[in-house]
Amino acid sequence: MSPRSTPLNTAVTAPRPGVTSRLHLSASGVSVVLDVTDGRAPAITYWGAALGVLDAAGLEAVCESAVDVVPQNAVDVPVRIGIIPQQADGWIGRPGLSGARTDGCGWTPRLVTRAITVDGEPLAGSHLETGAALARFDLSDQELGLEVTVEVELLGSGLLRLRAGLTNAGTSPYRLEELSVALPVPAQADELLDFAGRWTKERTPQRSPFAVGTHLRENRRGRTGADAAHVLHAGAAGFGFRSGQVWAIHTAHSGNHRHLAEKISTGRQLLGGGELLLPGEVELDADETYFGPWVYASHGTGLDQVASRFHRHLRSREHHVDTRRPVTLNVWEAVYFDHDLARLTDLADRAAALGVERFVLDDGWFGSRRDDTSGLGDWVVSADVWPQGLAPLIDHVTDLGMEFGLWFEPEMVNEDSDVARAHPEWIMSPSPERMPLPSRNQQVLNLSIPAAYAHVRDQMSAVLAAHDIGYIKWDHNRDLLEAATRGTGRAAVHEQTSATYALMDELRAAHPGLEIESCSSGGARVDLAVLERTDRVWVSDCIDPLERQQMNRWTSQLIPLELMGSHIASGRSHTTGRLHTLGFRAATAVFGHLGIEWDLAAASEEELAELREWIALYTARRELLFTGDLVRADRSEESLWLHGVVSPDRTQALFSLAAVGRSGESQHDRLRFPGLDPATRYRIRPLRIGAEPSGLVPPPWMRRALEQDGLLVPGAVLTEAGVAAPLIDPEQALLFDITAV
Ligand code: GLA
Repeated sequence: MSPRSTPLNTAVTAPRPGVTSRLHLSASGVSVVLDVTDGRAPAITYWGAALGVLDAAGLEAVCESAVDVVPQNAVDVPVRIGIIPQQADGWIGRPGLSGARTDGCGWTPRLVTRAITVDGEPLAGSHLETGAALARFDLSDQELGLEVTVEVELLGSGLLRLRAGLTNAGTSPYRLEELSVALPVPAQADELLDFAGRWTKERTPQRSPFAVGTHLRENRRGRTGADAAHVLHAGAAGFGFRSGQVWAIHTAHSGNHRHLAEKISTGRQLLGGGELLLPGEVELDADETYFGPWVYASHGTGLDQVASRFHRHLRSREHHVDTRRPVTLNVWEAVYFDHDLARLTDLADRAAALGVERFVLDDGWFGSRRDDTSGLGDWVVSADVWPQGLAPLIDHVTDLGMEFGLWFEPEMVNEDSDVARAHPEWIMSPSPERMPLPSRNQQVLNLSIPAAYAHVRDQMSAVLAAHDIGYIKWDHNRDLLEAATRGTGRAAVHEQTSATYALMDELRAAHPGLEIESCSSGGARVDLAVLERTDRVWVSDCIDPLERQQMNRWTSQLIPLELMGSHIASGRSHTTGRLHTLGFRAATAVFGHLGIEWDLAAASEEELAELREWIALYTARRELLFTGDLVRADRSEESLWLHGVVSPDRTQALFSLAAVGRSGESQHDRLRFPGLDPATRYRIRPLRIGAEPSGLVPPPWMRRALEQDGLLVPGAVLTEAGVAAPLIDPEQALLFDITAV
């Protein structure tokens, strides 16, 4: 249904007992119905496929379906899941708001709705049917002195987002433990899919039944986490990339947070999320307000549609990157801490000759940072390794026509650093007597201390102002254990997270055009809040293409390819020791923001020639890759993965067929290319760069396509009937260009 904005009733009706207000928001094939029955707290009574135009009777029917039929031995009124579930409404699961005043009162509010606005206008009438819009509900429990604001916004992409804020309207402090939002999901969604992971193996999928109880994914790392739930999905068992209705949420927060799926004994079930607050972390004095993070919700048919709503949303951001994502060379795996001007200028020469467009100097350029034990936090160019400063390297890089990027880790210090020696009180610790356990030899600098924040900002700004630096890699290499303000002992993760966002915002404002990569021990800070102020994530410190096939596949469940740092590394992976052909490494990496992380001085002439071709392939297709729709095929066997990007008008596509394992059967399932137009005729062309994949046995159609530089095939054959799959060895990949004729 296309959005429209037609109030069905124009009389202004303030929410109050006896008055029921209902809203139907609809955009991009998604409907959301919100209900304030009898002036109570709001609930989402429907979130899913578009419902078309609903009149008042239709809305009533939808809302009634969301309330329980009153059973025996239960509260005597119908219960439904509120956006802030509360016991006062009969909800016996986890409450959305937890907290109390210091005397123990105020823990069970009865929030009622005082005002509703839609796009800033008071709700006119008791029903509204509209398109994408921001609905705001002002709730309160006047007796307890608590005011809650709930915002529900349906975006043009069909993505929904919700957040809640709490104001202490009483006179004594209110200690907040949790403020989460909840969305109901229908009982047919009986399986969950979310993610686990670890350093060098981020975002490993895990499925489980949606059973009675709480599937609670709590993150206490003070950063998003390599094991973050990432996107928590619920759908009918077996939902795939292209099939099954799926409801999914993402909590957009880079500090402690939660995602949860809860089902209670009535069978009612919800997805929810919010910030995870540490004890005493948020204590609101009179008139103080806390706002929780946005929780994004995506509904679609299959995981691809769920992902595409996130992608459309990110692509619609004002600061979203342009499609000419520069081919990047990051020096980390090439030189590690061995910073030597001659070696690095040579690397820059080799990179520029291949078509590299951005050169990033990683860890080791500052203070006493010759290894990871010392100097972290001193953002001053090291006179030992850079006696003439960074200018000779930066000038060399920019003279070659490349942009220069630089690594920082602004929230961290080595205890062996000038800043830590001068200001031990800036280091997070539960008491002046005791430091948290070190991790990668480092501690956390408390950016919630204004002087510490200003110190880091000023040191970073000075480096950025002194040089032509268009890009920073912003790293964060440890969990926040016992992250408290030294002296007071109060937990400070919430404030640290806000300070980090503020620092990013301030640096971006002070250095217009500055691009930031979000890195955290690889891919431990990938979320939609950090992406409001960053332009790329480093998916993982593991560049082994076999691992990256999986990590890129699932990182893109949230973010589009242009935001995913995807590098070609040396033949032997530095993290797994596996050996891979350049073909497999490159065919994997081009589905992302391409980079190189490899000591090019150690590459052979053949490898360099092949690399040049891969870079040319990427630059010729980045417009398609970064504007098209990501599609992933559901296949009966797991050893051959097929994914691609299809242009919005479905006239062009690039597909990858990757052998990620060995099948128990000698023949593969046919290849069905999702996302193409069955009514269009296409030319399919297997791409040939470098050596052909080992073990390749092409089926007859592919042999003809190879001989004739492409084969004409009806779209319906490619999408529905499928074509025979080739045989290839494991850890090999083939790319296909597909163009409408
Ligand atoms: C982290 C990052 C790496 C690299 C190192 C530098 O591990 O993920 O890419 O920048 O830090 O110390």
